[in-house]
Formats: sequence, structure tokens, C-alpha cells
Amino acid sequence: MKITVVGAGAVGATCADDIARKALAEELILLDIKEGLAEGKSIDMMQTAALLGFDSKIKGVTNDYAATADSRVVVITSGIPRKPGMTREELIGTNASIVKTVTENILKYSPNAIIIVVSNPMDTMNYLTLKTSGLPKNQVIGMGGSLDSARFKYYLSRELGCSPADLNAVVIGGHGDTTMIPLIKHATWNSLPVTQFLNEEQQERVIKDTMGGGATLTKLIGTSAWYAPGAATAGMVESIVRDQKKLISCGVALNGEYGQQDISLVVPAVLGKNGIEKILELRLDDEEKAAFNKSAEAVRAMNNVLKETGVL
Ligand code: 2OP
Repeated sequence: MKITVVGAGAVGATCADDIARKALAEELILLDIKEGLAEGKSIDMMQTAALLGFDSKIKGVTNDYAATADSRVVVITSGIPRKPGMTREELIGTNASIVKTVTENILKYSPNAIIIVVSNPMDTMNYLTLKTSGLPKNQVIGMGGSLDSARFKYYLSRELGCSPADLNAVVIGGHGDTTMIPLIKHATWNSLPVTQFLNEEQQERVIKDTMGGGATLTKLIGTSAWYAPGAATAGMVESIVRDQKKLISCGVALNGEYGQQDISLVVPAVLGKNGIEKILELRLDDEEKAAFNKSAEAVRAMNNVLKETGVL
């Protein structure tokens, strides 16, 4: 299986590193527009093979899309990251044309790839990739929900004083500070509802911290995070290439599900060898439904910017 990661910045390189360590690909291509960056990071990663004991082959290339030919899975991380104080949405002006060009280049050499979109604002960039690629909707998947769900589990584990691995917790909606919806009423600690152990104030704190999770890190680090985004993306790639059929929150094109269409939003989906194999429709209560519709409105407004600016 051949996998390509486009963008050798912090998120792309971490994702490639995780893919190599998990031995998910016979051939892993890391591509970047900046001369030598992907080559250098790939060689650095390959030099960990003897230390960590993996056999994956990583090849770095500068803008050479021919090297990506016949990739089954392609991860797009291209574009600029957030700076402190910026929202993901503010990146649209720069990232939309980058993501569009990358998608077109990828499809020239891998016309039937499964594409995972990581670039921000993810919900709109995934929608753009869906529209410009013409690929079936099960082959275009946005990364955001699994990362936000991992952050949700982190904040829950701190509040509960428990292992994050013992938690099940899902974020739906969008991958924006105000559009993501951490479903606290559905979250469990080894099957027990977490709401039994957290008071209102604690629940509100966990929700707020989860929603601001990315922004908090951007403020601390000076740019957006990479370890959890890279691991979340590699987890999606793993479920696809190993046909694990894991249930993962991700950006999917909705066609009537959750009462929405012509939009990409984050919902739980089963990921297997065909990409998105099933979308799970949750029975949301009125409050959750209203929050979901509000997120859809905000994402739709961002998608309209693509049309207004002529990108779509
Ligand atoms: C984040 O939330 C990169 O969007 C990503 O950190």
C-alpha cells in the first residue's frame, strides 16, 4: 500500500512519523513545496528506524507529484497554521487555493485515492476537496472530530482523575472553536455516564476547555499543535488501510443525514478499506440538534466564501 502525506510541516511530518512507526505503508511519500524540507525530515525519520525497529520506507520530495502516483490514501496538511489569537476560519483566504491546487495535482497521479483533509478551516477545506475532486463522498474525509474527541477525553480525564483510555467521548458539529459540540451527555467512563460524576460547573468547564483546546495550545506554543493532530490523522489512516472499521468522528459529506445536505460536518463514521463505510445518525435531543444546526449555519457561511471569492 502506498500512502502520501502532503505538507511536511509539524502536523504532516508527525503524521508521517506515526504512519511509519505503525508500519502502515510499504511506501510512504512526504511531499512539500519548500525545497529540501520533506527530504530532510524523511531522512531524519528513516534514521529512527534502526532505533525504533520499523521497516517502513519514507521518501521526501519537493513538489514532485509524479512520485505520489498510485497512492491509496493521501493526507493533505498543506497551508498555513494558526497564530495566537487567530481562528481557524481566518485561514481560508490563504489555504483554499493551496488545498485546491494540491487536490488537482494529487488526482492527476492517483485518480482514485482516498483523501484525508487536515488543512484548516477543515470543514470548508473538506467541502472544497469534495467539490473539486469529484471523488465519491466516501473517499473524502476531514480530520478534526477524532482530534477534538481526544481533547475532550483529556479534559474529562483531568476532571474525573481517570485514565483517558477508559473514556468514550465524541465531538460532532464542526472543527471550529465555536462549531464543535462535545456530547457530554453521551460520554462514558467504562460504560458509566460521566454526568453522574461531574457537577454542572465541571461539565461546563470540560466543554469550554475542549472547544478552546486548539486555541489554548496555539497561545502556548505560538503556532498550532501537531502531536495529537498527527496521531489523530494516522489513526484514521490505520483504520482505512487495515480495514479496522473503527468508529471515528470525522468530516463527512452529509446527504440528508442529520437533516443536512451539500455540506461537510463532523459526525461519527465507520472507516474501513473503502474510506467512509457508514455514517451513524445519533438521536440528538432538542438542545443538541439546535447546536448542530447552528454549527451547520456557520460552516455553510464559510463555504459560501469559496463561491464569493471564486475558488469554487
Ligand atoms: C488543531 O486543532 C491543527 O486544527 C488543528 O490543533
